[in-house]
Amino acid sequence: MSRLFLLFFLFITACGPLEEVFVEEDLLQRPQAKRCADCHAEIFKEWEKSRHAVAWKSEGFKRESENYTKTKCLSCHAPHQVDPQKKPALRVEFKEDGVSCVACHFKEETKAMHGPLEVWSPPHPSKRDLSYVKSGFCAGCHQETYKEWKMAKVEKSCQDCHMQSLGKRDLIQKFPFYYFHRAKPRHSHEFVSLIASAKDVRVSFKEGTLQVENVGVPHNLPTADQGDPRLYLIAKIRYVDGKTKSVRRVFSPQAGNPLPYKTPLSISIPNAEGVSFIEIKILRRLAWKKEKELILSKKIHAKSLYSQNGKRDLGGSQRAGRDIKR
Ligand code: HEC
Ligand code: HEC
Ligand code: HEC
Ligand code: HEC
Ligand code: HEC
Repeated sequence: MSRLFLLFFLFITACGPLEEVFVEEDLLQRPQAKRCADCHAEIFKEWEKSRHAVAWKSEGFKRESENYTKTKCLSCHAPHQVDPQKKPALRVEFKEDGVSCVACHFKEETKAMHGPLEVWSPPHPSKRDLSYVKSGFCAGCHQETYKEWKMAKVEKSCQDCHMQSLGKRDLIQKFPFYYFHRAKPRHSHEFVSLIASAKDVRVSFKEGTLQVENVGVPHNLPTADQGDPRLYLIAKIRYVDGKTKSVRRVFSPQAGNPLPYKTPLSISIPNAEGVSFIEIKILRRLAWKKEKELILSKKIHAKSLYSQNGKRDLGGSQRAGRDIKR
């Protein structure tokens, strides 16, 4: 018993000096992201695939910032320090790392890595900071999107959707450190763009108009502060007399007409009374991609023009009769 106590005592007293032995000074001198990969190899691999990693090097940004000469454009694409709700200042070193590990995690005030967890990290000081799990953390840069998200009044945060949980995993992959640490909650650092699914966009044909509503994405569809992502709607109309016509619309933040959350939009259809059916396709194009991707493809029969509910209306003459009597 007393021997165990002695061992425990030795361990406790060793902890102080031990931390000094393992501390790696350069980690607090704002190194490149790849230095963090020495221990956080998996997180680094995810981040490398993200748009944050190319925020500075991106062809689109290089062109639109006129080869980095428009100074007001630079700070969010190579930030010094990220604080909730605050537009960041421009970083001096390693701008090619874009929105980097150090920018998001290192704080000048504490000279420590801030993050969502309580950890023991001898190579560098760490501090638990719960602002990391809130949408406000993203708000200094994704300013417009954050405002839209706030209006949507949903529970899910940006992180819930764009930094999905990976369950419990090791934060570090370096020998011998991983022996001292247990698996902890991890979140994907790929910052995936995601894509709306067919159930996120409701399309119906009522009273001669096509109604389009973003019912699933709790910010504008598409959303952007600076980029030019687009949503395309193509409606091929077939009339009872065999004639066809197509109606096209482009929705984008740049044009000022994206689809807000839960606010239906009407598109009038010419000669609506003569419509047989409409084939609808909705596609999107991200700001940094050339290709369009399909979100929804749907065929709506004109029957629904005269009823609130297409399915129930089948064999509905009886019902209609009853309704009249009442
Ligand atoms: C307040 C922070 C902020 C500032 C300032 C800023 N951007 Fe961005 N930029 C973003 C964010 C966030 C995105 C991600 C998508 C979006 O919301 O537009 C982005 C995306 C982009 C994209 C699309 C992605 C790509 O790589 O092609 C371009 C182009 C771009 N910005 C150019 C600019 C230009 C030009 C300026 C200056 C006029 C500028 N940005 C200033 C935050 C900012
Ligand atoms: C020599 C190894 C090593 C290097 C290099 C390293 N770290 Fe760590 N880091 C650790 C250890 C150990 C932990 C704690 C792991 C655990 O508890 O499972 C940690 C934890 C963290 C945490 C979690 C903090 C929290 O409270 O949630 C963050 C954030 C972090 N590191 C950021 C960085 C960044 C950014 C870099 C690059 C500048 C970096 N680390 C480089 C070893 C390292
Ligand atoms: C320091 C500014 C900054 C912060 C903070 C920031 N971002 Fe970004 N984000 C950007 C920039 C700039 C881009 C565009 C990069 C590019 O494509 O050139 C971007 C792109 C993205 C994209 C890809 C968008 C697309 O068009 O495909 C997603 C998703 C994203 N960020 C989510 C988040 C989330 C979630 C958070 C908060 C946890 C966050 N960002 C915090 C600056 C920031
Ligand atoms: C755009 C800002 C941003 C960038 C860039 C970024 N992180 Fe994070 N990181 C976060 C946020 C936000 C969380 C908290 C996620 C949550 O808990 O929902 C986090 C969580 C973590 C954690 C805790 C474990 C986890 O997965 O939740 C570690 C460790 C970490 N980051 C290290 C890194 C390293 C290393 C890099 C670079 C390779 C990096 N981060 C790049 C914002 C960022
Ligand atoms: C309920 C999940 C959810 C939440 C919460 C959420 N998003 Fe999204 N976000 C999506 C989906 C789905 C898309 C893909 C839309 C599409 O098809 O283009 C998306 C797309 C984006 C894009 C790419 C541009 C676009 O419209 O395609 C950015 C940037 C973005 N989100 C940022 C954010 C930020 C910042 C927050 C928090 C303020 C946030 N998102 C909250 C689901 C979510």
